[in-house]
Amino acid sequence: MIDTIIFDLDGVICSTDHYHYLAWKKLSDELHISFDEKDNEKLRGVSRMESLDIILEKSSQTYSQVEKEEFANKKNTLYQQYLKQMTPSDLSVEVKETLDQLRNKGYRLAIGSSSKNTKLILKQLGLENYFDAICDGTMIQYSKPHPEVFMKAADLLGKNYKNCLVVEDALAGCIAAKSASMHVAAISSAYGSPYADYHLNTFKDLLEINNK
Ligand code: BG6
Ligand code: MG
Repeated sequence: MIDTIIFDLDGVICSTDHYHYLAWKKLSDELHISFDEKDNEKLRGVSRMESLDIILEKSSQTYSQVEKEEFANKKNTLYQQYLKQMTPSDLSVEVKETLDQLRNKGYRLAIGSSSKNTKLILKQLGLENYFDAICDGTMIQYSKPHPEVFMKAADLLGKNYKNCLVVEDALAGCIAAKSASMHVAAISSAYGSPYADYHLNTFKDLLEINNK
């Protein structure tokens, strides 16, 4: 019986996944590294520094740790410029109404995101006080596909992992949730993932999940 739903943030609650792409694309262009939407798929759910390492794999140059940190900071500054333009109107009505209905059905609602910008994004969307628990990139040591972020979110609520459902748009996130023995609902890029128990055409399909 599912009693807790843990949502990934980027690409599930909001479309910040596209802003990640635009910011990485700008950095890649500056470094003369090819980077397209397909490359971006590999970065879903992956931490900022690990994402940078994946991008730099295509470069013939080797960079020092200090240079890498500069690149990551530069990307994050660009990314935050997009985030700061977000307002509660960027939260889709479908997502908000579905969250409200799930809450009314008695589910506890949590966020499990690798992003260190989670609090900023939730604030921009007017959701800073909405979720029962938040576990984000500032609270974990290992990023997805490691299950730490979801386990900690469940721990914050004192919930059994077997009673949690994770909603994910990243393959890495589906693997992470499964390895914590959680139920998985895949949406968007993760739709069709073999690690998912449910496949959502659209966010409100969560309301159709038969919870026995
Ligand atoms: C995840 C995104 O939610 O957060 C990744 O899917 C991103 O693409 C990661 O790299 C870390 O985000 P941030 O905001 O800490 O750079
Ligand atoms: Mg995501």
